[in-house]
Amino acid sequence: MANESTKQVTFKIYRYDPEGNRPPYFQEFTIPYIRGTTVLDGLIYVQENLDSTLAFRRSCRMAICGTCAVLVNKYPHLACHTQIEEFNSDKLTVEPLANLPVIKDLVTSLDPMFEKHRSIKPYIIRGDRKEMDNPTAEYLQKPEELDEFMQFTDCVGCGICVAACPTSASDKLFLGPQAIAQCYRYCKDTRDEGEKDRISLVSNGHGVWQCHLSGACSEACPKGLDPALAIQLLKRRLVSRA
Ligand code: FES
Repeated sequence: MANESTKQVTFKIYRYDPEGNRPPYFQEFTIPYIRGTTVLDGLIYVQENLDSTLAFRRSCRMAICGTCAVLVNKYPHLACHTQIEEFNSDKLTVEPLANLPVIKDLVTSLDPMFEKHRSIKPYIIRGDRKEMDNPTAEYLQKPEELDEFMQFTDCVGCGICVAACPTSASDKLFLGPQAIAQCYRYCKDTRDEGEKDRISLVSNGHGVWQCHLSGACSEACPKGLDPALAIQLLKRRLVSRA
């Protein structure tokens, strides 16, 4: 990594070991970087050169899988899609995602989010059970019908919208922007007949009506999705059904 234009940045990293006696603390590491070095590159540098016990997740390293999400200077980012240079600072604070339980260091459990995701039945539900079991043809859909929910199919489940959401911070039972946006995606799918099964799941005291439209989820989404819009459209859908 070393060359003439190499600079240095200090990562102040949240550390927590559930098997140790020590409460969570911050540890600082000095990292060399050049133009293009990402926060994930910095974490890998720490793990390979300074402290092999540092725990964090990553897989694709190209903003596709969503596993590397962390807080950088208190804001959620995909570490592999965030360059150190963007912050124009010699010190960055790196922490696990907010509003999700920490397993170790920068690794959070996404289980609460995925349980909520599962709860809204994120799959096509049909009344024609026989046809589903033994299909005789495709369920056709027009391109303009697909356009109505297409953006929400791009969700990678990184947890960034949940970490950014002020309602998720104050209400652990809140379904959250990820699950609600996926609920809208399936309700809006013209091939689906399961809306009535999902209504009670999203219209209770921890569902869509808890969202006060801060828009933080949409602002933070690294894939450019607009879960806040999905929540508002789902509210409209619920009202028009009443
Ligand atoms: Fe896959 Fe960052 S490692 S999104």
